[in-house]
Formats: sequence, structure tokens, C-alpha cells
Amino acid sequence: MHVDWPYEFPGAYWIDHEEEETLLDVLRHGSMFRYYGLGAAKYVDAYEAAARQFYGADYALAINSGTGALLAALSALEIGPGCEVILPAFMWVATAASIVQVNAIPVLCEVDESLSMDPADLERKITSRTKLILPIHMAGSPCDIEAIMAVARRHGIRVLEDCAQCNGGSFHGRKVGTHGDAGIFSLQLNKNMTCGEGWLLITSDKRLYDRAFSAHDMGLVRVNGRLATPEPYAISWGAGRRMTELCGAVAGVQLRKLPKIVDSMRASKRRIKAALAGTPGLGFRMMNDAEGDTGPFLVVMLDDEAKAIAATAKMKESGLHSVFRICEYGLHIYYNIPSLVGKVPLSPAGNPWSLAENARSQTRYDKGTCPVSDALFARSILIPIPSKLAREQEEQAVAVIREAVAGQTAGGGCCSCGQSLRDCATADSARQQEEQP
Ligand SMILES: Cc1ncc(COP(=O)(O)O)c(C=O)c1O
Repeated sequence: MHVDWPYEFPGAYWIDHEEEETLLDVLRHGSMFRYYGLGAAKYVDAYEAAARQFYGADYALAINSGTGALLAALSALEIGPGCEVILPAFMWVATAASIVQVNAIPVLCEVDESLSMDPADLERKITSRTKLILPIHMAGSPCDIEAIMAVARRHGIRVLEDCAQCNGGSFHGRKVGTHGDAGIFSLQLNKNMTCGEGWLLITSDKRLYDRAFSAHDMGLVRVNGRLATPEPYAISWGAGRRMTELCGAVAGVQLRKLPKIVDSMRASKRRIKAALAGTPGLGFRMMNDAEGDTGPFLVVMLDDEAKAIAATAKMKESGLHSVFRICEYGLHIYYNIPSLVGKVPLSPAGNPWSLAENARSQTRYDKGTCPVSDALFARSILIPIPSKLAREQEEQAVAVIREAVAGQTAGGGCCSCGQSLRDCATADSARQQEEQP
């Protein structure tokens, strides 16, 4: 069996005359800058207004890049030397990099079978220096944000939700990004909606918004587009990370399409999962809330690493070219990030790890730091679900996955409990949650 599997880039498949017309409008009016131009600039403002409505947040701030948004958020949350920030072992390099860039210390937290932050390990990682919890809604699905918020509240720690990979997702009916103090969303090409490159920060905390605004722009606020001096709490060193009207124009259109894009991926994923249900030796990632999943990835778990290696190779051979064993998913895995493992300093002074303020934060990042996560990464396979699949492609993918797993099933057991996946209650309940069509 062979399948012709498209590249993912979910939002890119939905670009049509609407994006074209708004972009041309920006160009024809000579107004690429969001605050002024030959004609009236309006698209970034309109995108932010639509975002406030869509997510149900009081404030929305469009930013031109991911690391820029993370830095603006960390700066707004007053993270710096002497602060520990807890993030999950399954992440993206930008999330860790932004913590280092403000001279704070990243602290790794184990993921559970949902491949997102394990609330029990989170509790263990908290110290008197923990100033922020940074959960990530990874690979399209919400983390257990309510359990994480409960831990955070018990300890009086603020929460920044990284929703880069879960735009449009929710947990128990409430949009991701609105549970914590702030949420950030990527609009880069691989994400559920896109304008090529860009981010959105949402919050309902005015001081936090003002500080993030100041940090992303010029260290001040703006009134009717003109720079204005705010109260002292919002004066900072800006980083010039405003979104262009070109991106705002596309982002506004794509936000209107986001529910359809997500519905399409979810529907394909559910049909594929339903067809794979009961395949011997095949388990699925646990879903914290299957209703809030956005669908761009299906994660299957095999009994052990050797079987996962063989099945991944077979899937690639059969046309599923973009599948990865999670442990090989590049800079998404803490121990694959050379600068993190090597604690590469920001400057010859050695910061942040050598700063006196961080002296009590002894951390490591090499493989083995998060053994539970390492074992899950080794036997889990990430299968991207493109946003416009034909039924025939879905059926062919099912056949390819079944074939790849067949023959890998003898012996072995569930990595976390030692039972076979079929007998394992955890794997079984995960399967049930994932299987509801
Ligand atoms: C979880 C997570 N956080 C942050 C980022 C950074 O986003 P960007 O590529 O928009 O800079 C990504 C990008 O893949 C991501 O997956």
C-alpha cells in the first residue's frame, strides 16, 4: 500500500481570493506599517479586535515573531535573573530560548501520556524561585490546564500558556490561552492558521497587556497610534516587534477560516483513528480533552522503541514521509537542543547559569533528565494530518499505518506499566477518549 500524503501547513491550503484581496488593498494604499502610511492602515487593528472576540479575552496584541512574543510576555510577567520558569520536556527551542534570553533559568518538567506537562511532576519541580509556569498545548491538543492552574494557584505562581500548536483549541469548553495569565499563539506557516510569521498575545490583565505592548514596541504605549508615556509600570525597553499590515491582513482572514480548518483536521483525524481502533500493538496518546483537540497530529504509541523505529521506517517508505518518532522531532525535544544541553551562555560573562542571582538553580538538560518523557518519546510516532485530505487518502493512510504496525506486535509491553497495550487500562482509556468520532 502507498499513500500520496500532502505536506501539512494547515492554513496555507485555505488561501484564496480573500487573502489576495486584503493584501492588494494594503499594497494599493501604501500602508504596510500598522500606525501610518499613504492610506489608512487598519488590518492589524481589525485582527486584534476580531481576536478579542474569538478567544474571549479583553486584550489582544499582534506581534511579528514567536520569540518576540515570548520575550514580550516574559518581560511583561517580570521574569529575569533569580527566576525559575518551568516548561515541559516536549517543547520548541524558542520557548526555552526566550527564558534564557531574559536571564532566567528553564526548569524541565516531565510530560505524561498526553505528551504535555505532567501536573504531578510540576508540583515536584516548584521551588521558592519558581516565578512562572509555561505549559505548552503541544501537537494540537490541550494540556491539562485546569490541573496546572490548580497547582499554580496553590503556590501563587503565574501561568503563560504557549498555544503555538493549538490555535482554536479548548479545554472543557474554554479556549486555550484564556486559562492562564496570558496566552500566545503562533501564526508561522506550520500552524493551524498562518500569515507566514507572526504571533498573537491575549490576556485579560490590563497591566500585563500594557507591559507587553511596551516591550514589543518602543518601551511606551500608544494612544490613537501615537507614542505616549504610560505610567511607570509600563515603561520598558521596546524590541520593535510590531506586526506589519501585510501580516495583519492575512491573519484577519485566516482567523475567520480557523474554525473550518480545525474542523477539517479533526474530522480526518477522527476517521483515521476510528479505523485504526483495535489494531493490535497500537495505542494512542492520551487526550486531556478530545473535544478541544485541533487535529493537526495523530500520535500513536507502540509497545517499545524497537517497534516504533521499524514502524516509522515502514510508514515513511509507504508515503507517510512526514512522520517522526517523537524523540527525533528535532528541537522539540529538550535533549536535542545543543545550546540548552551545553548551557551555552548569552555572553562571555556566562549568563544566565553563572549569574549570582541564579546560583541556587542547579539544573541539567541532557538526555535522562526527564526519564519518563524520554521513554514516551522513544515509542511514540507523530503523524501530521493535513487540513484538506480526500477520504481515499485517509483510507490509504490507515492501511499504511496498519501494515507498518503489523509484524511489530509480538511480545513487549506498555512502556509505563509493563502490561501489553491491549491490557493496559491507561492505554485503553486513552484509546476510548480518542476514538469518539
Ligand atoms: C510550542 C511552540 N512554541 C513556540 C514556537 C515558536 O513559534 P514561531 O515559529 O512562530 O517562532 C513554536 C514553533 O514551532 C512552537 O511549536
